[in-house]
Amino acid sequence: MARPDAFEIVLSRAFTRIVGRGTPPQLAAALRHAVFPGGARVRPRLLLAVAQAAGARDLSAARHGGVAVELVHCASLVHDDMPCFDNAPIRRGRAAVHAKFGEATAVLVGDGLIVGAFDVLARACIDDPRLLPALPVLAQASGAAGGLVAGQAWEAEPSPDVARYHRAKTGGLFEAATVIGAIAAGVEPEPWRAVGAAFGEAYQIADDLLDLVGTPTELGKPVGQDIVHARPSAAIELGLERAWARLDDVLQRMRGAIPPCADADALHRWLDEACARLFPARRLQPCTGDALTRDDATATALSM
Ligand code: FPP
Ligand code: MG
Repeated sequence: MARPDAFEIVLSRAFTRIVGRGTPPQLAAALRHAVFPGGARVRPRLLLAVAQAAGARDLSAARHGGVAVELVHCASLVHDDMPCFDNAPIRRGRAAVHAKFGEATAVLVGDGLIVGAFDVLARACIDDPRLLPALPVLAQASGAAGGLVAGQAWEAEPSPDVARYHRAKTGGLFEAATVIGAIAAGVEPEPWRAVGAAFGEAYQIADDLLDLVGTPTELGKPVGQDIVHARPSAAIELGLERAWARLDDVLQRMRGAIPPCADADALHRWLDEACARLFPARRLQPCTGDALTRDDATATALSM
């Protein structure tokens, strides 16, 4: 097994505050299941890449910001998989939290992770008050006024505006990641918002494409869900070829949005590597079963 990197170590330490002596054992096991082993940890890694590009010398604040963002993301997946939403029994190649621990525990896991995220961030703000603006940034990205909660709720509306829905459900946390990365580096954060927004848009297009052309084995979750849940999908609306082309356009826009910074080259290199892993070779055929399997490393890179 690969040695945990600095981010995973900070995440594991932070987790010991979320799960303590007072945590009932079933809940403790379910919380751990929701967070470890993770998926690609894309949001915190983007946050760290931005902090480094923006000139952060000490990455401690950025790592704690990344932990907070990742915990909110994990919470959202636990709730998203529940029968009242997507009713998905598999996540990251294993049983979803509600499937293994029951629905009541899954609700509480989400609750515990959201509160835990803000606990981690609040403590990091005490250590480094320059991080304080990150608190409302993460709250807005998570909440009902246009964040994750709003994004999920748009799915229950009769005719949602697709761009607004995707921006809330997917883009918000990526925007928060780039903005918090810049805050942690002590630079003006708002110019970084467009980078996160474009990354989120690209991620959503790739998610829509993989839902059609990916396999359950490589994604570690059910595929074909956009059709099952009648959800808007770039891959269905545009067709596969045009959706891949749109993905290229959005990625180009994202790179163009990077503001002048201390080490833009390093960020471009990180993006090269991340995009190669996350946005795989173009497949133009819908998945027909689970015949197309890949190795475990690819599955981890793609798992959300
Ligand atoms: C996955 O989408 C789900 C989300 C991106 C967000 C879900 C948000 C909630 C359930 C609200 C909870 C709010 C907080 C603050 C925790 P998907 O179903 O398209 O992707 P998938 O195929 O990975 O499930
Ligand atoms: Mg889902």
